[in-house]
Amino acid sequence: MAGRVVVSGAKNAALPELAAVCLSPGTVEFSNVPLVEDIKVMFAALREIGAEGEMSGHDIRVAMPLLRSPLVSRQTTQTTRASILLLGPMLARHGLARVAMPGGCPIGERKIDFHLQGLERMGAEIRTDGEYLSARCARLRGIEFEFPGKTVTGTENLLMAAALADGTTVLRNCALEPEVTDLVALLGEMGADISSPAEGTFVVGGRTSLHGAVHRIIPDRIEAGTYLIAGCFAGNDILVDDVVPEHLQSLLDILAGMGAEIAVSGQAFHVRGGAPLAPAHVVTEPYPGFPTDLQAQLTTLLTQANGVSSVRETIFNDRFRHVGELNRLGADIEVRGDAALVRGGSRLRGTVLKTTDLRASAALVLGGLAAEGETRIENSYQLFRGYENMPEKLQKLGAEITIIAE
Ligand code: EPU
Repeated sequence: MAGRVVVSGAKNAALPELAAVCLSPGTVEFSNVPLVEDIKVMFAALREIGAEGEMSGHDIRVAMPLLRSPLVSRQTTQTTRASILLLGPMLARHGLARVAMPGGCPIGERKIDFHLQGLERMGAEIRTDGEYLSARCARLRGIEFEFPGKTVTGTENLLMAAALADGTTVLRNCALEPEVTDLVALLGEMGADISSPAEGTFVVGGRTSLHGAVHRIIPDRIEAGTYLIAGCFAGNDILVDDVVPEHLQSLLDILAGMGAEIAVSGQAFHVRGGAPLAPAHVVTEPYPGFPTDLQAQLTTLLTQANGVSSVRETIFNDRFRHVGELNRLGADIEVRGDAALVRGGSRLRGTVLKTTDLRASAALVLGGLAAEGETRIENSYQLFRGYENMPEKLQKLGAEITIIAE
């Protein structure tokens, strides 16, 4: 593959930022919105509860003058777990929310107890019948809260709730992913009072109301990382454009350690495959560590390294489902507890694969491209939840890839 690929806006920034629309009656104008299924579902959920607006290409103009219904349906939450992000803002502005328990990718236990603990401490009364979470409150009140563990959407939910709470909220041990930082920027643009006196701590002065804003969503670092990894396979020469290089420092360090040929220039990566790749020992961690959302894709690349690599997953407890499928392609990977041992140098041969989650799908696409012969990936709709036009972007680079059915 050769040529330039332009990275879309970040799905995991756009999701909480759409939820933030609930916090104000004002119009929020987003640009660089990724055209992926999870965003379409979230936008539909917003409209279900009362938002008015439209999507036009990569722009969304939307406002929530009134909450028409406090119900976020099962249909929405089954497709994207991010629907839980509506809980904090709906409670903060309307005092009422009923959200079906979230579904999403099968990558292990995905608890929401820290979100609920925080909101309860702020004065919400939350009940669950196993299927729905029902929550109500008078005005939420500011609290001091230390997250017992790092959570991305938990941090985002409580930041949004605190923006309209009565008094000051201090949140400690917060997640610091660039998507959290971008949400904090949007909330500031909407009039919220948020500062960060120390790393991992946010202090939020509650306001009585917020207003509309104009916001450009940051580039998707996971999509960028996926194409960067794709470029490291033999025969490829790719310019990955519209990236924020520092968002991917952990991946750049790993790939440099493996001997990959990458040049960073301004907002772009130029990567050339073909250099002999050394094995790597990788551990997933909260930002700025190596992201779990690139673990599967990097594992595919490690099947081509000269030697034995290890990949330890510390964020989710069942995120190695791509391993069995990569082995069916000819990889030699063994899962031992929370780690995968990847014996590199495998000759991959095309076959029929079945994918289980979004990032695993991307890993299998990379495997299929590197393999000899044809690979067929079933369940590939998963890919479209989070990668805008991946088949078209790859075709433009010269890959032979066709969608048979989504
Ligand atoms: N956790 C708890 N209690 C909580 C919240 C989380 O124990 O209340 C645990 C989880 O069980 C998990 C770990 O903490 O083991 C991390 O979970 P986190 O809450 O950070 O994940 P998330 O917010 O549900 C977001 C992304 C995921 C990404 C993770 C980790 C969005 C919409 N989703 O999920 O993205 O993997 O952070 O970085 O932002 C993806 O895009 O493919 C994806 C899965």
